[in-house]
Amino acid sequence: MRVALGVSGGIAAYKAAELARLLMEDGHSVQCVLTSSAQEFIRPLTFAALTGRKVITDLFHASSGEDVLASAVEHIAVAQENDVLLVAPATAGILAKFAHGLADDFLSTLYLAFEGPVVVAPAMNTAMWGHAATQTNLAMLAARGHVVVDPGVGHLACGTVGPGRLAEPAIIAAAIQAIAHPLRDLAGEVCLITAGPTQEPLDPVRYLTNRSSGKMGYALASAAHARGARVILVSGPVDLPAPEGVERVRVRTAQEMRDAVMQRLPESTIIIKAAAVADFQLEEVPRQKVKKTSARFSLELVPTPDILAEVGSIRGERLLVGFAAETQNLEQEARRKLESKRCDMVVANLVGGEGVGFESDDNEVLLVTRRNGSIAVPRASKLAVSHRILEECLKLRLVGQPA
Ligand SMILES: Cc1cc2nc3c(=O)[nH]c(=O)nc-3n(C[C@H](O)[C@H](O)[C@H](O)COP(=O)(O)O)c2cc1C
Repeated sequence: MRVALGVSGGIAAYKAAELARLLMEDGHSVQCVLTSSAQEFIRPLTFAALTGRKVITDLFHASSGEDVLASAVEHIAVAQENDVLLVAPATAGILAKFAHGLADDFLSTLYLAFEGPVVVAPAMNTAMWGHAATQTNLAMLAARGHVVVDPGVGHLACGTVGPGRLAEPAIIAAAIQAIAHPLRDLAGEVCLITAGPTQEPLDPVRYLTNRSSGKMGYALASAAHARGARVILVSGPVDLPAPEGVERVRVRTAQEMRDAVMQRLPESTIIIKAAAVADFQLEEVPRQKVKKTSARFSLELVPTPDILAEVGSIRGERLLVGFAAETQNLEQEARRKLESKRCDMVVANLVGGEGVGFESDDNEVLLVTRRNGSIAVPRASKLAVSHRILEECLKLRLVGQPA
């Protein structure tokens, strides 16, 4: 493949040289583009020597004659000549430019002119990484279908410890290989995925809900789409953009989620119920706002529809995956759910731990399967965990359905 490798100005810029070498080793041609900040950290000559090609360092670098014409269109030519745009390390600055379409140097202009797949590997100080602006920008890029190779956790050059270290060059090179040889192992499958919490009204202005962010279900939807499935995402109220290429059906209550799932069930082949559906609801919701008149206010709740059990009873040949968020007896509870709801697999996660589960970007789960025992998936990004879940789904497809 022809890779345009953008290098922006962070300490990790030196690691981009190793990355360029690995990409060449994998048989790709590499056209390097260095921002002016990147050139404060590493010389273009290093990349020119490694790739055997001129390195682009400036949008307006030519000064006279034919070169002026060449440079006038170079960002368009580079956009058209390359199959993938990879930026590693990607600074907070370049992510912001990409997210908002600011084109004030070669790399950011190339990004707007480029129509193929984009991969970014961010690297920065932990506070910069965690800043709402950076996270919002990343969410925008992910929603455009770009691949984000998450940074690792560790000691950073600035002296802090935490997320922000550039992913290993081999991992970034593997992301490029995945684009060069895409996995299409879910082609022909229709994945019905539920995500997020539900909201159960108490009156016209109040509701009961839970801490689910929807990130796990949305990551599953992205991963299933990337592997070639048609994806229907039935989502409770969350603050996440719909993943690229995924059909999103928005719902609010457990009843609405049940109705949407039942409506789309006939066309589905794999059902993954990652939503944290409320267990209880009010039987009769008052039409008027409840007034603050007395010191106490009691609620009598009734169970919401058990969507997983209902799907389990009519699933037929479909593959069914449930989720169990538990605070104790993880495997035991998951296995009970597996049997009682007629699932093929239950993805169990212990909630309450730091940095994993609800609201976080990472997860650590136990895959409790009917035929293949229990598999511990160590802490990883929700996208990586999603791919692991889908791989297990495919294996379960091969060994067959429950009796
Ligand atoms: C010593 C030093 C190290 C830096 N490291 C990083 C970094 O790792 N990540 C980052 O996002 N910005 C880092 N910056 C800030 C960027 O260089 C700065 O935001 C710059 O404008 C980025 O430009 P570019 O995105 O066009 O390359 C660093 C700055 C200095 C002076």
